[in-house]
Amino acid sequence: MNQKMNQKIDDFFEKIITVRLSDDGRAVNIIDQTLLPNEIKRVDLRTKEEIFGAIKKLMVRGAPAIGVTAAYGMAVLSRGIEEKDFASFRRRFGEISAYLASSRPTAVNLFWALKRMEDKLDSLEGEETDVIIKELYAEAESIRNEDIEKSRGIGEAGFGLLKEIREKKGRAPGILTHCNAGTLATAKYGTATAPMYIALEKGWSGGDMHVYCDETRPLLQGARLTAFELSEAGIDTTLQCDNMVSALMAAGKIDIVFVGCDRVASNGDSANKIGTSGVAILAGHYGVPFYVCAPDSTIDRDTPDGSGIEIEMRSPGEVREMWYEKPMAPENISVFNPAFDVTPADLITGFVTEGGVIRPPFRFRESV
Ligand code: MRU
Repeated sequence: MNQKMNQKIDDFFEKIITVRLSDDGRAVNIIDQTLLPNEIKRVDLRTKEEIFGAIKKLMVRGAPAIGVTAAYGMAVLSRGIEEKDFASFRRRFGEISAYLASSRPTAVNLFWALKRMEDKLDSLEGEETDVIIKELYAEAESIRNEDIEKSRGIGEAGFGLLKEIREKKGRAPGILTHCNAGTLATAKYGTATAPMYIALEKGWSGGDMHVYCDETRPLLQGARLTAFELSEAGIDTTLQCDNMVSALMAAGKIDIVFVGCDRVASNGDSANKIGTSGVAILAGHYGVPFYVCAPDSTIDRDTPDGSGIEIEMRSPGEVREMWYEKPMAPENISVFNPAFDVTPADLITGFVTEGGVIRPPFRFRESV
């Protein structure tokens, strides 16, 4: 890869690091995503209430990023645990972990990361508190670094699909994505965006592909976050309202769909941002391949199918008035506002994972 291009991509990733430790190691430092794309503001989260609130309010969001935030959060908060004997320390740690776990119900990465921190703590019984805290920091750092490696793996596998389309059609692939499963939702490459970022790293120009971003009502993660980060990275990007997907597909603009995921049941049913299942139905109708991009930490082997995935319901205000100068609906109108929907496994062409592309029949029992 040309060095100038490499530098440009590194600068881009450096500019929008979603979550990291503060310089003094005593806070989780995040980009406040509610302010994007207008302002890139970093915020320190020091208390359990601040960490809980940032996840709940979507200041930090996206399944893997929530997991990394919770892991760093547990390391930071472990310093403040006053009880020093192991049993009491463990009890307090468990209480804080349960509190953070109650911030959002759907993304399994949150529970996965918290469990990993608890398992780490259990393996340290008998050690001095100082050693325990140091090891918890190291575990959180590993979770972040592993997320980067996993999304790189997803990117490599997804890039193979883009290359095939480009070779076969002799033009830039048209890619549709929904919500934000980008660098802002993870530690680095994103999941659904990873194939595009890896394409840049491999020397494609931003014009060698074209990404269509659903705006993603009601919280506009596609418009505010995905369109922002892809265009910042120099990738050809178009924004459309969610109800324009059928028209785009009918016009032959979309060769492939890449979406992220908050939880995959062991039969392949997949929960992702509200509207994803509609995109899958349309993709099936128009014969467009529909891929779910997800790391192993998003697979919930304890949930047999999508009916067991808890779907977060959010406030009516997000639909009635949020982002508008004046309310866009009658003040007390009843609102249906689930944050996610479940795409049935039979509408999914394949899963793009760090272990490669997985095709049906899906049976997620072992690691990918
Ligand atoms: O409510 P959000 O913004 O946290 O929803 C995020 C999504 O649905 C993403 O597509 C999903 O978490 C995958 S992120 C790599």
